[in-house]
Amino acid sequence: MKYKDEIEKRKTFGIISHPDAGKTTLTEKLLLFGGAITTAGAVKSNKIKKTAVSDFMEIERQRGISVATSVMSFEYRDLLINLLDTPGHKDFAEDTYRTLTAVDSVILVIDSVNGVEEQTKRLTEVCRMRDTPIIIFINKLDLEGRDPFDLLDELESHLNIKVRPLSWPINRGKSFKGVYNLHNLQLNLFEASKTKKSDQILTFKDLNDKELDTILGSDADQLREDVELVDGVYEELNREEYMAGKIAPVFFGSAVNNFGVQEMLDTFVEIAPTPLPRASNVGRIDPYQDKFSGFIFKIHANLDPNHRDRIAFLRICSGKFERNKFYHHSRLNKDLRFNNPYSFLARDKNLIEEAFPGDVIGLYDTGNFKIGDTMTEGATFEFQGIPSFSPEIFREVVNTDPMKSKQLEKGVRQLTDEGVAQLFIQQPGSKKIIGTVGELQFEVIKYRLNNEYGASCNLVPRNFHKACWITTTNDKQLQEFVRLKASEVAYDKDDNPVFLAPSAWMLQMAQENYPDLKFHFTSEFKTAKEI
Ligand code: G4P
Repeated sequence: MKYKDEIEKRKTFGIISHPDAGKTTLTEKLLLFGGAITTAGAVKSNKIKKTAVSDFMEIERQRGISVATSVMSFEYRDLLINLLDTPGHKDFAEDTYRTLTAVDSVILVIDSVNGVEEQTKRLTEVCRMRDTPIIIFINKLDLEGRDPFDLLDELESHLNIKVRPLSWPINRGKSFKGVYNLHNLQLNLFEASKTKKSDQILTFKDLNDKELDTILGSDADQLREDVELVDGVYEELNREEYMAGKIAPVFFGSAVNNFGVQEMLDTFVEIAPTPLPRASNVGRIDPYQDKFSGFIFKIHANLDPNHRDRIAFLRICSGKFERNKFYHHSRLNKDLRFNNPYSFLARDKNLIEEAFPGDVIGLYDTGNFKIGDTMTEGATFEFQGIPSFSPEIFREVVNTDPMKSKQLEKGVRQLTDEGVAQLFIQQPGSKKIIGTVGELQFEVIKYRLNNEYGASCNLVPRNFHKACWITTTNDKQLQEFVRLKASEVAYDKDDNPVFLAPSAWMLQMAQENYPDLKFHFTSEFKTAKEI
């Protein structure tokens, strides 16, 4: 197959949702369609039990499973679909944000009972930074959910995106009868079933067909009214606007019943983008360019504490990746080769000889990689758009075993390179402050420092409101700020100055007193669209 055909065969995407909306269930159904799994329930184990916050065995088990299911590749209608899993637990949100840098589009799952929730908003904001195309699946129509028009209004106003329904539900909850596909004018009648692969479809090119009344009874008139309103209110779906992340097609269904999923998948394969160009510090890198390039967006530690090697996940952005060929590590200015890279086709780890743009491969790493690293075929450049976001909770690492300070140092560095938490170094004394988005990571860190590095520490709460990366063209003002605010300034992994603002008010004061300094809540100030 030609190189160009290999690229055009691939669609790489992620499913995002607020926890419990149905992401895992939908993932499983998509894999069922792709033939990657044959039984329902296979993906279920890929979740940390929501209540098991302190259950370390559960965390370890999860880490093991999530390596295998981090990327799920399957073939569907001559396409190769790469589905990148994103952790559902909100404490791992940062991991999800980073995974979103490696996809070309997303499917957003909304719970029809709860509508837009907190994580839905945050995740969509991250997608908006890169204009990632979004398809929305409104789930759980078998429950007494909210009115579909209200849900659409809420999506538009809270997520700041235009929507266009491509299917329409006929009632909901106990009287849910099915969905009408507004695109191909077919009626899909609801039937509760967890494993079936195809829906019961009837074609109604004309909604005034009397047969519709026989099937739907009094709901037929309501459907006619709704469809008229939908067509009057919502603009036609324009693919360019979808590709620019400005309009999102919306589907209704019930993932657990495998209902409405196929319709969405069929539209997904039709309109979702093939591998897109990626922003770098030397301009956009086109997937069709023949020299290999890619970046690391996730690092997974080995579960066996006796083996320190890790697995780095690399998204290929251009060219062909080949096993055993030397590639250039831009940050380290060093050539590396990989003799056992693997892919994730059909959920097994397969050794690969070659891979193409859109693919994600696993590379064994002995400590060369940090999240965001770029690999190229000779050229020296760095991909952009893999930002760190301000953590929410901060703790200072205080060593409790002076004999093990080297181990602690190494452990903290390696865990933060993996992206478990963010590390900020504060002077004098090189104090280590780690920041996370949730409490769970602190437990993971303490446990792993002890278990894998033999180090022990206390994590002492530090009361900061936000980490703000500072930029300026006025160096003098920056130096003065750093000198006067020494107890609130720290340096991130790349030695960038960061203001650890004690409160929103202090941040506002800093902004007023130092007008030439800019404070940012993410480490990357130029978004991909500006480059
Ligand atoms: P998440 O990954 O987004 O966190 O959600 P997940 O798929 O685990 O779904 C959360 C709960 O919602 C699950 O129930 C799941 O069965 C249920 N669910 C998913 N889709 C639908 C749907 O279309 N209709 C209804 N009624 N429920 C749905 P659970 O009780 O947490 O787990 P389980 O015991 O059912 O496995």
